[in-house]
Amino acid sequence: MSQSTIESILQEERLFSPSTEFSQTAHIKSLEDYQRLYQQAKADPEKFWAELAEQELHWFQKWDTVLDWQPPFGKWFVNGKLNISYNCLDRHLTTWRKNKAAIIWEGEPGDSRTITYAQLHREVCQFANVLKQLGVKKGDRVGVYMPMVPEAAIAMLACARIGAPHSVIFGGFSAEALRDRLIDAEAKVVITADGGWRKDAIVPLKPQIDKALANGAVPSVQNVVVVKRTAQDIHMEPGRDNWWHDLQQQASPDCPAEPMDSEDMLFILYTSGSTGKPKGVVHTTGGYNLYSHITTKWIFDLQDTDVYWCTADVGWITGHSYIVYGPLSNGATTLMYEGAPRKSNPGCFWDVVEKYGVTIFYTAPTAIRAFIKMGDHLPKARNLSSLRLLGSVGEPINPEAWMWYHKVIGGERCPIVDTWWQTETGGVMITPLPGATQTKPGSATFPFPGIIADVVNLDGDTVGENEGGYLVVRHPWPGMLRTVYGNPERFRTTYWEHIPPKDGKYLYFAGDGARKDNDGYFWIMGRVDDVLNISGHRLGTMEVESALVSHPAVAEAAVVGKPDEIKGEEIVAFIILEGNCQPSEELSKELKKHVTQEIGAIARPSEIRFSDALPKTRSGKIMRRILRSLAAGEEVSGDTSTLEDKSVLDKLRGEG
Ligand code: PRX
Repeated sequence: MSQSTIESILQEERLFSPSTEFSQTAHIKSLEDYQRLYQQAKADPEKFWAELAEQELHWFQKWDTVLDWQPPFGKWFVNGKLNISYNCLDRHLTTWRKNKAAIIWEGEPGDSRTITYAQLHREVCQFANVLKQLGVKKGDRVGVYMPMVPEAAIAMLACARIGAPHSVIFGGFSAEALRDRLIDAEAKVVITADGGWRKDAIVPLKPQIDKALANGAVPSVQNVVVVKRTAQDIHMEPGRDNWWHDLQQQASPDCPAEPMDSEDMLFILYTSGSTGKPKGVVHTTGGYNLYSHITTKWIFDLQDTDVYWCTADVGWITGHSYIVYGPLSNGATTLMYEGAPRKSNPGCFWDVVEKYGVTIFYTAPTAIRAFIKMGDHLPKARNLSSLRLLGSVGEPINPEAWMWYHKVIGGERCPIVDTWWQTETGGVMITPLPGATQTKPGSATFPFPGIIADVVNLDGDTVGENEGGYLVVRHPWPGMLRTVYGNPERFRTTYWEHIPPKDGKYLYFAGDGARKDNDGYFWIMGRVDDVLNISGHRLGTMEVESALVSHPAVAEAAVVGKPDEIKGEEIVAFIILEGNCQPSEELSKELKKHVTQEIGAIARPSEIRFSDALPKTRSGKIMRRILRSLAAGEEVSGDTSTLEDKSVLDKLRGEG
């Protein structure tokens, strides 16, 4: 977070109350209602979650224990049986929602499609049968590498229906990144498309799959299913590749949902940490279903007349919880948009709001800052009066962006929910409840009922008001990750032992810095580890460094974030070249391209700085703090006494 942002949030005292009109019809109507729920949940969390699980979800068989907590491993609703696809589809078919729009899809070149709950159910059942025909059994992992088309949601729900955990891989990841994830998940089948539309151009997806699977690199993959989206020529490997529409047409629409154990794995989603290899975050069925359901209902105040639009991609956790599972479990209408603002149509988001009468809009601060730059005339030229609630996610929102969102998009009438959470948490953890909470621009406000969040020091002790510290959660919650796929040790050490447990009490370490103000509001200050947040996308510095050193010209690389007005952060890479290589503009371009090939465009450094040394401690650790100051063009402050060779600093500043 930039210094000016930190200063502005430290001074932020404005308070915004929900309108009486909004509160009257909201699920949670007042601060007293929120506080009552929060206290009830705190006093007896298991009772609180059990009552909600009973009220909100359909169970084939009830659980016998609400929580089995063997820290840091937790099981929720033990021996309960349910299916999230049943909760998202079948149960709505016996109500008036049968013919309600489940998914409204707006495709980039003007395509659109509306799918009712009955139609979605049919398609999901058919595709579940397709998966079965391809030999996918309960427990087998399925990779999903798709553009933003309804088939992505259909594939996810079909996997869930037969109990095959999905692993969705963001369509912007390169073949190399895709291969690593498919290998780690040991995927049996991969579902993809020929391509997707992005900013008036076709993004090829199937060729990336071919590259990832070439030479038997992922031996577990037996079949690939390809949705025809962009219709360019692609290679179809005989015996391995199948067209979605061929298989789908022949499949029976009869496929009862498999009763799954609460703790059966629902999905793996890879995310970046401070080490080189992304972690496979594991979520299970019962707890995740409940947590994504109830957070969607209360935080977005879902009503039956809402048209709800979350602009994330299904490749990220936000897409899982708040495009697919949460909204559908609630019987809502969820909008999926394939496009992105582009030169030919910078106002396209507002066109979508107007066209469909969107009532709830959930996006990232990066997008909001980009909208500000594009100009007020774009939203002002559209009718946005249908909007009644706005949300923000993925990175800290600076008060200026918050105020613009409030005034220009929300017409000063829409509450804003700034939602803090992570891939690991399954759903939102700290957030306003829109009919109850008075908001302060830039603060995620209070924990969701049932979430015991705190700001602590490295001993696990609560720090004072307005003092910075580490954000932790003191009690397990149903949506929490259960483990890191194939690596329970990493799960234990990364999240639960970073702050050493005391008296058998384990704290969940989020990796974010935070402070609580005098009124108990949480202010999230950004990551405290080597994780970058570029346009709301999470990337590990070591991941980018590994990509850079895999280039033959690079001897050593260190990557840091530099504050950026729009993206929040951008990547600056300090590079030491191999002895026989010379710095050049061309090489700089080549290295940027190399990272794009190794990981994807989201990881492309915006700046490469060649150097002949890096600031290191005597024990050989790179002092990133110094590099961050240098990248931001700030004075290097703080202790540099551990720096091994002080002349490095002058050299990096170009004074050596
Ligand atoms: O640093 C926090 C930031 O995003 C991280 C989680 O990234 P990811 O797992 O990719 O999930 C993103 C979508 C939930 C967090 O550790 N973050 C997320 N939401 C906020 C945020 N930082 C500040 N304010 C938020 N509202």
